[in-house]
Amino acid sequence: MNYTLITGACVNTGVAIVKKFLSEGKNVVFTGRNENKVLEAERKYKSEFCDADVIGYTIDSLLDRKTVDEKAIEELFDFLDEKDIFIDTLVLNAADQGLDVVPLESPIEDFMRVINTNMVWNYCISEYAVKRMRENGGGNIVFVNSNTAYRAIPGRVAYSASKSGQLGMMRAMALEFGKYSIRVNAVLPGMIKTDRWEKNPEFYENVPSRFTPIGDVAVGEDIADAVWYFAANARNTTGAELVVDGGNTIQLYPVCDNR
Ligand SMILES: NC(=O)c1ccc[n+]([C@@H]2O[C@H](COP(=O)([O-])OP(=O)(O)OC[C@H]3O[C@@H](n4cnc5c(N)ncnc54)[C@H](OP(=O)(O)O)[C@@H]3O)[C@@H](O)[C@H]2O)c1
Repeated sequence: MNYTLITGACVNTGVAIVKKFLSEGKNVVFTGRNENKVLEAERKYKSEFCDADVIGYTIDSLLDRKTVDEKAIEELFDFLDEKDIFIDTLVLNAADQGLDVVPLESPIEDFMRVINTNMVWNYCISEYAVKRMRENGGGNIVFVNSNTAYRAIPGRVAYSASKSGQLGMMRAMALEFGKYSIRVNAVLPGMIKTDRWEKNPEFYENVPSRFTPIGDVAVGEDIADAVWYFAANARNTTGAELVVDGGNTIQLYPVCDNR
């Protein structure tokens, strides 16, 4: 049976992506790091989408701060193979936001932790998925990237570096795997309203109107729609980027007048 695998989907944007795919009738496997949270999310998805085939799986990218847990990925794909589940779409949404990685202060292991999760782990999952897609006649991969791949924000050197590297990886993978009928694309959100939004009301009060020409930032559903476009409607598109940031990236100065 064909499934979509969506990483980091117990909270925030990942939830919107799972719901989009379930509402379109797709079968979904999603991941989170905490077993209880995964079980709770699975229960909620099943109660909202009664007929849906949705499976939660607990996995962390790292064994320790320095090492990607490849064995855990192997176990995930063994689990899927045993259940005869074929991942035809892989949505790489999970990310280490690197919020605690302070330039010039944090140990280099913290920088590596972000690179390892956002680049190396994603590459490793892709390898396991692509080998199976190649055998099954194709598939597609969608990275949930960030407009910080192009434009820097304060205190996020590790995160920006990881997202820029992820874009290079996306393009190279698109080139490499096209011959197997595998498409690889990326959605680049700007600011998304998540639970962090509520914790930072002062910052966000002025940001949407001043930093986006359309005066609004994304909700999870906007990102989910873009992911769905690549997965389901972009037959002839690979190695492409879709920016979903309200025009944040194209604006040079903040708007200072009162709108
Ligand atoms: N929020 C924004 O404003 C924004 C802007 C631009 C781009 N993005 C991108 O959009 C995507 C979703 O953002 P979000 O804000 O919704 O994310 P989020 O709330 O930070 O959730 C991230 C998810 O990634 C998982 N994750 C984190 N570290 C992990 C690790 N080491 N191993 C395995 N899984 C891990 C988390 O698992 P747990 O549930 O177990 O914690 C969580 O499910 C990310 O790729 C992010 O970079 C977000």
